[in-house]
Amino acid sequence: MPPIKITLVVGTRPEIIKMSPVIKECQARNLSFFLIHSNQHYTPALDAIIFEDLDIPHPRHNLRVGSGTHGTQTGKILMRIEKILMREKPDIVLVQGDTNTVLAGALAAKKLHIKIGHIEAGLRSYSAEMPEEINRVLADHCSDLMFAPTAKAKMALVREGLSPKKIILTGNTIVDAIRQNLPMAESRSKILHKFKLDRQKYFLSTFHRPENVDNKPKLKNILSALGEISKIFSWPIVCPIHPRTLKKIKEFSQAFPAGIQVVPPMGYLDFLMLESNAKLVLTDSGGIQEETCILNIPCVTLRDNTERPETILAGSNILAGTNSEAIRRCVDTMLQRNTNWQNPFGSGKAAAVIIDAILSKS
Ligand code: UD1
Ligand code: UDP
Repeated sequence: MPPIKITLVVGTRPEIIKMSPVIKECQARNLSFFLIHSNQHYTPALDAIIFEDLDIPHPRHNLRVGSGTHGTQTGKILMRIEKILMREKPDIVLVQGDTNTVLAGALAAKKLHIKIGHIEAGLRSYSAEMPEEINRVLADHCSDLMFAPTAKAKMALVREGLSPKKIILTGNTIVDAIRQNLPMAESRSKILHKFKLDRQKYFLSTFHRPENVDNKPKLKNILSALGEISKIFSWPIVCPIHPRTLKKIKEFSQAFPAGIQVVPPMGYLDFLMLESNAKLVLTDSGGIQEETCILNIPCVTLRDNTERPETILAGSNILAGTNSEAIRRCVDTMLQRNTNWQNPFGSGKAAAVIIDAILSKS
């Protein structure tokens, strides 16, 4: 039997981070694999620096799609990936998460009758308003292998009528990524010193979801809540700002209140250092809800729903929405919580389980 040829597709910061343990597993086993990068994220802080921090190989193909409307972005990726897949003829295409890159990668492979493996399958917010919900549902429904990170995610897939034979419970590769990178962050990152931060005496905040930052009243509420929280606690709120958020703040003529330390998007090692030493994190990020749970740092989620209910059940996370009074109350609640909850996302061997499953089912 010739060796199996694996294509791994990435496009945005979280995909690069969560795919990195799978890439490393392919390297460790000397498998035949290559990367396609859509370049949906292209700003060096969201792209090149993340590749560098994680020490993963350069993609063999870069589609250079950049930004655009959903249709434009998805369409360009689909067209460009198709050409590559026709030439490269891989045995399986792996996609991770719920971005436009994931949907386009899965569709391109499906139409060419190439096997698809969806990593982080079965997450559901049950909010069709979110572009990510559309992407993950469609990607799951055309996948041949669904790598569900938790039992809840697996159940969601089974409830939608998907075959249990195609669903593999793996844990989340973000646990692998944290285990692989936290020791390096602790030994290499100088970010606390650079930003003059004392451990456990600052908050960390990120927000970039369109339903929050593309909506002026919601964006204003979040900014004013952060300003008030910083004043009440007399601690800075470090805010690595996503390009989408910065663009919208300018467009809506908003300003950052005093107490918010606005910084560019961080490399992964610096971000892990900031996250693991924060008193509490306020975010609308999906990945950061998981990471705070794994790192035993309290999280206040600036959304009304989550596709990561495991974090709420574990006790690491609370849904605050975007009302400033509600955000303040949730911060108080979370600061009183005991942080010794159990991580529901697995033991850090997800990448090995994924590759084992691919090899045994080929
Ligand atoms: C995308 C994903 C989202 C994910 C997020 C991770 C979709 C639909 N959305 O959202 O699920 O949580 O990435 O961060 O796939 N921009 C830059 N530089 C970049 C990328 C974007 O300046 O490298 C700016 C552009 O103005 C762009 C805007 O950010 O229009 C939004 O970028 P886009 O890729 O459409 O979505 P994200 O908000 O980054
Ligand atoms: N992250 C990072 N630098 C930052 C902010 C986040 O490296 O300045 C990492 C974070 O640790 C997590 C991932 O990016 O692993 C989350 O990405 P994002 O919030 O952009 O996307 P989401 O998870 O919401 O899809």
